[in-house]
Amino acid sequence: SDTEAESWAECLDVAVRTALRAGQMVRVSVMQEKRVSSKSTPTDLVTEADQHVEELIISTLREKFPSHRFIGEESSAAGEKCVLTDNPTWIIDPIDGTCNFVHSFPMVAVSIGFAVKKQLEFGVIYHCFDGTLYTGRRGHGAFCNGVRLHVSKEKDVSKALILTEIGAKRDPLTLDVFLGNMKQLLSTPVHGVRIIGSSTLALCQVASGAAEAYYQYGLHCWDIAAAALIITEAGGCVIDTTGGPLDLMSRRVVAAGSQEIADYIVQQLKPISYGRDDDDP
Ligand code: IPD
Ligand code: CA
Ligand code: CA
Ligand code: CA
Repeated sequence: SDTEAESWAECLDVAVRTALRAGQMVRVSVMQEKRVSSKSTPTDLVTEADQHVEELIISTLREKFPSHRFIGEESSAAGEKCVLTDNPTWIIDPIDGTCNFVHSFPMVAVSIGFAVKKQLEFGVIYHCFDGTLYTGRRGHGAFCNGVRLHVSKEKDVSKALILTEIGAKRDPLTLDVFLGNMKQLLSTPVHGVRIIGSSTLALCQVASGAAEAYYQYGLHCWDIAAAALIITEAGGCVIDTTGGPLDLMSRRVVAAGSQEIADYIVQQLKPISYGRDDDDP
């Protein structure tokens, strides 16, 4: 309804203000000594800042919207269930690019997505180091610092710049398939393939038209929720690696400016198997 849409617009305002505050906290903590530990694998890094930034975001939002649900990377790591219901739900990545953060490599973002009845309503991604703010609201377009975003219209994959990420899983089979997929695209040949260390900022490049496509196996719902809405609102296509509709919990995605390039990538990829975000632990 209209009043419902109004209230989501108000939620978006709060999300933006919260992302800016969280980004400020990231900028301060990157200068300080970091306590780094690991989660699922030795390369799955986490710092106290990841936890503190998530606490700041969730406590701020919960105070304003006590009836809403929250899915956050570090809360899930602490054992909270990661299920998307029909209730208004915030999907939060407090620091996307923790490995970059640990090295002070300046590609780190705060990502806040919001879904109602399992449909994404808006997304906010804040690049903590250059202060770029990406926003998108369903039916209202996507913006970068207030300027409307448009995806690349390129249909020819041999003229594409493609982004991907390798997650923390580094067993030989995962690496073989990952490198095989990259080799397949590099030998197409596409113009180039890039890994920047932040799924959300990579996806924002697709929304901006600075890259033609992005694909990844092993990402999480908090890596794609905000970005998927932003790319869609910028005119792009975000689908499952099998070519079907995106499933936020499936841990896989292909995003592209054009359907043609998305379809090409879907045809080339060999799957890497991961569990789902909503699997029982
Ligand atoms: C990770 C980063 C990384 C990608 C991983 C993500 P995190 O997020 O986006 O680039 O390869 O799949 O999990 O852990 O830094 O928030
Ligand atoms: Ca992480
Ligand atoms: Ca992430
Ligand atoms: Ca994170």
